[in-house]
Amino acid sequence: MNFHVLTIFPSMFDEAFQEGVVGKALGRGLITLNAHDLRSFAQDHHRSVDDYTFGGGPGMLMSPGPLFAGVEHIKESYEIQDSPVVLLTPQGKTLNQVDIEQFSTKSDLILICGRYEGVDDRVRQELVTHEVSIGDYVLSGGELASMVLIDAVSRLVHGVVGSIESTQDDSFTTGLLQFPQYTRPAEFRGHKVPDILVSGHHSEIAKWRRREALRRTLIRRPDLLDYADLTTEDREFIDSISDETLSI
Ligand code: ADE
Repeated sequence: MNFHVLTIFPSMFDEAFQEGVVGKALGRGLITLNAHDLRSFAQDHHRSVDDYTFGGGPGMLMSPGPLFAGVEHIKESYEIQDSPVVLLTPQGKTLNQVDIEQFSTKSDLILICGRYEGVDDRVRQELVTHEVSIGDYVLSGGELASMVLIDAVSRLVHGVVGSIESTQDDSFTTGLLQFPQYTRPAEFRGHKVPDILVSGHHSEIAKWRRREALRRTLIRRPDLLDYADLTTEDREFIDSISDETLSI
């Protein structure tokens, strides 16, 4: 998986991915990350990448010239004409784990980090294949949003996370929030780990985890249950706890 980022702050990416799972994956060559300085594609002596908006209004807009030149350069140099071009913007579709799984099947992703009041709409119309938001709030630019996407996609690249099972139970991958987890000690400040988890009964543990994932999802994110893959037993369990959770 190769990430190609167009940004006015390429050095932000060096710092962010030195540590952790993504840092290791970069070191091992499982993923690559090229942060391209958008200003190097500017077409004037001042290396400008923004301009005033037609029709008036506050703030500046990212000009189409440097963005088109940057994306064309990346596509030609890496021979990736058909790769997705993702614009990080609060106007985009809110990113979820299904989107992340789809992005993880690609070999290359081109990410455009918006700044200022946004980008000239011709960039969106002609260059961009996906517009992505990471949530209903406004950041000062798309850099942090693209780092979120890079991190989440990288975890799904084969070999990046220790064992494949450790991403399979993630929240959202199952369509549900994750069940509660515990490590040692078995008793901490008077709080004991649920007996079932230390019982060694693997099928009972799996059943308990499924039920706790359902309970947590029902309480915190009932909207997810509309799309989750539920068995008859799951539905019966949800019905049986609905009354108690409604009163919470
Ligand atoms: N740029 C500014 N805010 C953003 C958001 N919420 N998601 C993606 N890109 C952004």
